[in-house]
Amino acid sequence: MSTPVISVDNLSYRYPDGTAALEAVSLHIHPGERLALLGPNGAGKTTLILHMNGIHMPQTGSISVSGVLLDNSSVMDIRRRVGVVFQDPDDQLFMTTVRRDVEFGPRNLGLEGAELEARVDAALEAVGVADLADRPPNHLSFGQKRRVAIAGILAMEPDIIVLDEPTANLDPASRSELTALLDDLDITQLIVTHDLLYANEVCDRAVILNEGRVVADDDIGTILRDDELLAKHRLALPKGVRI
Ligand SMILES: Nc1ncnc2c1ncn2[C@@H]1O[C@H](COP(=O)(O)OP(=O)(O)OP(=O)(O)O)[C@@H](O)[C@H]1O
Ligand SMILES: [Mg+2]
Repeated sequence: MSTPVISVDNLSYRYPDGTAALEAVSLHIHPGERLALLGPNGAGKTTLILHMNGIHMPQTGSISVSGVLLDNSSVMDIRRRVGVVFQDPDDQLFMTTVRRDVEFGPRNLGLEGAELEARVDAALEAVGVADLADRPPNHLSFGQKRRVAIAGILAMEPDIIVLDEPTANLDPASRSELTALLDDLDITQLIVTHDLLYANEVCDRAVILNEGRVVADDDIGTILRDDELLAKHRLALPKGVRI
């Protein structure tokens, strides 16, 4: 079998105040997979993805990205390989124009000139915001900001894109557009979401995390048809919907 893009092995994490957020989590994501990470509020989903690009470092257990073990010497390389799109786009956008924001990452990798411009244009085009290139990000709508944040990650050409609740706070049309856009991307994806229908549209596999533990890891249809499993972990499809 191919080397996993991300391999999480026996990872546990406690916040400084003593909160146990992850307990012996193991999870492997293979090239080309689209994995939904599900679970109730406080389950540990964000804590887990903050480990995947070294914002939190493993306390117990380990993480490897494309075969490279995450440690202090590899963290910068791993940040380039794992593109995390945060829950709040305002955490990600800080430059004076959209173009400068999307340029920021690849410029730090040493790209410049025509190569940089081509990389940025392709990313803006991919998420349909090329016409916003010269606007200040802080004047954009929430949905536009989310797209620009995704463009900034795509411009890094990562091995995997990790999205924390990408459909939250989007109107129905923006949600469908974003779903189509992500569906079209030819890149491994890990998607944290409470939106089970969206997860079903885009992902092939799902993992449920609860109280810091992996409590299910299976084909997404199998998970979403298991009413008892969903209810036990405070998850539910919209009323009347069957998968
Ligand atoms: N900085 C922190 N200090 C202490 N505890 C924290 C901190 N951040 C998160 N936690 C705790 O860690 C646990 C996991 O939180 P986390 O944010 O990872 O959950 P989540 O699954 O992303 O939830 P949500 O669906 O609400 O986004 C929770 O009990 C939370 O209160
Ligand atoms: Mg979260």
